[in-house]
Amino acid sequence: MPASHVTNGHMGDTSKCVLVTGGAGYIGSHTTVELVNAGYSPVVVDNLCNSSFECIRRVEEITGQKIPFYKVDLLDKPALEEVFQKHCFEYVVHFAGLKAVGESCQVPLRYFRNNLECTMTLLEVMQSHGVHNIVFSSSATVYGDPQYLPLDELHPAGDCTNPYGRTKYFIEEILSDMVKADKNLNAIVLRYFNPVGAHKSGKMGEDPHGPPNNLMPFVAQVAVGRRAELSVFGNDYNTPDGTGVRDYIHVIDLSLGHVAALKKLDDKCGYKVYNLGTGKGQSVLEMVEAFKKATGVTIPYKICDRRAGDIASMYADPTLARDELKWTAKRDLQEMCEDLWRWQSMNPEGFGGSDSEQKSSDTESGKESILGKHENNNVATPETATAQV
Ligand code: NAD
Ligand code: UFG
Repeated sequence: MPASHVTNGHMGDTSKCVLVTGGAGYIGSHTTVELVNAGYSPVVVDNLCNSSFECIRRVEEITGQKIPFYKVDLLDKPALEEVFQKHCFEYVVHFAGLKAVGESCQVPLRYFRNNLECTMTLLEVMQSHGVHNIVFSSSATVYGDPQYLPLDELHPAGDCTNPYGRTKYFIEEILSDMVKADKNLNAIVLRYFNPVGAHKSGKMGEDPHGPPNNLMPFVAQVAVGRRAELSVFGNDYNTPDGTGVRDYIHVIDLSLGHVAALKKLDDKCGYKVYNLGTGKGQSVLEMVEAFKKATGVTIPYKICDRRAGDIASMYADPTLARDELKWTAKRDLQEMCEDLWRWQSMNPEGFGGSDSEQKSSDTESGKESILGKHENNNVATPETATAQV
């Protein structure tokens, strides 16, 4: 190992070093906290196109640890190479990507370029640095319209209803082919169902840029007064109350699923796919009711037309993850809603205000790492970060 090589930015620390791409985002930041709790040393790379540096600062506050952070676009191979030069990674957890389903239908090329090229660049750099373990953020959306429920991993995948979903499916296929070609490579694909909730401290949670596309962030913004009412997209589905049914999973349970996946990689598992869900489906109106029960806040809503591309019902069979990863989701709806509400009410504008005070000296985003310098505000401002939505 070269003298300049450190495991996580702290010389002498021998804990296992994990590159977290997209670690300033919603799921990535919560997972970074759980990685620290489990004794790993995460290093975050993110271009902040849909997140803010303030989130990393909160991760540090919660964990009491410095988190090496690089504002790097994964499309920038030389910049990514530099990060791999500085750290000796054992694992990569790959969250980085664009994720707005509706937007992906309007600008599909942007989604294919970003999500696929990011991943291919990352895999090339991993290869050239001898890093053999990756966990990839996939989605239940790869199953398309369910042929049966609950969805297990044997359900056909690939008949996606939108370009975003197709990027996830194509990346799964790339990983599968790469594992076939390289016996040293291990890749775990995690197909998430619907993550909600926030960290218990109320310091970290989901902070969508622009109007939320997803149900529960919208509910929380109605509750805090940022939006007048919720639009319920259709009440004529073939479900018990006519509204869409999904498998909502607490983001901390989801994060712990990644810790379990890293342990599985130690078995040199090759290519594996797991659902991360609770196995239970809840309708939109049940979620509105659960939010009220947990928080005492009534959410005004109106019934609207169906949203294009939506399906009636989708929930996981999480048995495989239970049996092979020794992981199950433990947190219930009440806890999801309470934690979401604590975050939203303590941070009505999300990470908002905090970043506006930070000035950037990062002129060539991606080239300048901010390892150990963020206390000097050497970070991107919201102006230099391109908002996704
Ligand atoms: P998020 O947008 O909060 O996080 C993604 C992060 O990736 C952001 O911080 C963004 O700035 C970063 N990013 C995007 N393109 C990048 C690039 N080219 N280089 C560097 N960084 C880049 O989203 P999230 O909800 O935390 O989702 C994380 C992952 O999980 C995504 O891949 C998403 O597709 C997947 N996923 C999310 C959900 C969900 O409902 N949230 C469901 C299934 C799968
Ligand atoms: N819904 C509303 N009003 C809203 C938002 C959503 O009624 O303002 C309804 C939807 O019609 C659906 C349910 O709430 O019935 C859940 O919708 P979300 O947008 O929260 O979640 P989706 O299941 O449509 O999609 C999410 C992510 C995808 C991911 C998928 C499966 O956005 O990226 O879960 O993991 F692929």
